[in-house]
Amino acid sequence: MLAEKPVLWITRKLSDNTMARARASYDVIDNPEDRTFTADEIVAMSAKADAILPCHSEVFDAGVTARLSDRVRIIANHSVGVDHCDLPALKARGIAVTNTPDVLSDATAEIAILLMLGAARRASEGERLIRAGQWTDWSPSFMVGRQVTGKRFGVLGMGRVGRVAAMRARGFGMEIHYHNRNPVEGADGAIYHGDVEEFLSVCDVLSIHCPATDTTRGLLNRERLELLPADAIVVNTARGAIVDDDALIDALKRGRIFAAGLDVFNGEPRIHHGYASLENVFLLPHIGSATTQTRDAMGFRALDNLDAFFAGQDPGDRVA
Ligand code: DGY
Repeated sequence: MLAEKPVLWITRKLSDNTMARARASYDVIDNPEDRTFTADEIVAMSAKADAILPCHSEVFDAGVTARLSDRVRIIANHSVGVDHCDLPALKARGIAVTNTPDVLSDATAEIAILLMLGAARRASEGERLIRAGQWTDWSPSFMVGRQVTGKRFGVLGMGRVGRVAAMRARGFGMEIHYHNRNPVEGADGAIYHGDVEEFLSVCDVLSIHCPATDTTRGLLNRERLELLPADAIVVNTARGAIVDDDALIDALKRGRIFAAGLDVFNGEPRIHHGYASLENVFLLPHIGSATTQTRDAMGFRALDNLDAFFAGQDPGDRVA
């Protein structure tokens, strides 16, 4: 550690345990109101900090990166996703970038399973009905959904979260299929599909777990949605950018697929207006990693990376 504590700008309101630990080692600029920052504000704040600990809500695109103060040496993200950071541009500026893998895999996989079940069993539709006082009768033909037991669970992106989601889906006797650029070690009997189109054709449940990159943005488009089996369910806990919203909404409206369970969206929190009026979509507000335990773990992982960096070591989770 330096004689003087490095100045650390923590852009959002993180867990109390994270903030307490950060204050012990850094001169922290915090944001108790938890407001979000414009690009100009991020640039202005960068002149005050040696390090920034942002969430995915702060965008470091090429434009912002070019204008960041030379003072900033590291961006230690409180997220596993780094699509809000232009990594080549940050690297070119000599700014280190880290993320927080592993620690949110269980929490996010839990939300994927919640979304799968909620979508399959029409959970939000039933909940809305009860709250609106519109549940008038029970009938064997009432609110009939789909069963997932024994069906095929397709993992798009067999990374850390995808593996845990697959493990949980196995608990429902589901057969696991996956698509990745390459087969992965230790896929535990999951069936690999190198061809994304062939993969989609076997996904009774498609669960999206890949990062948003130039290759995956818009991957689930109109043509590919048509390849899913009839009555398929689409689950997204990764990034909204992987899905073409107009195409998914159209497929849901037409009953081409049975339902979707979504925790992430293009343009969130101002999401495509078409979702709100659909009955067959189970919506959550990007809470995949939102558990007390995981928030602490993410904060600590980001601080571990910062501590290593300021101790002159290579941070374990360096992505640029
Ligand atoms: C992540 O870690 O990428 C989650 O989406 C929360 O930011």
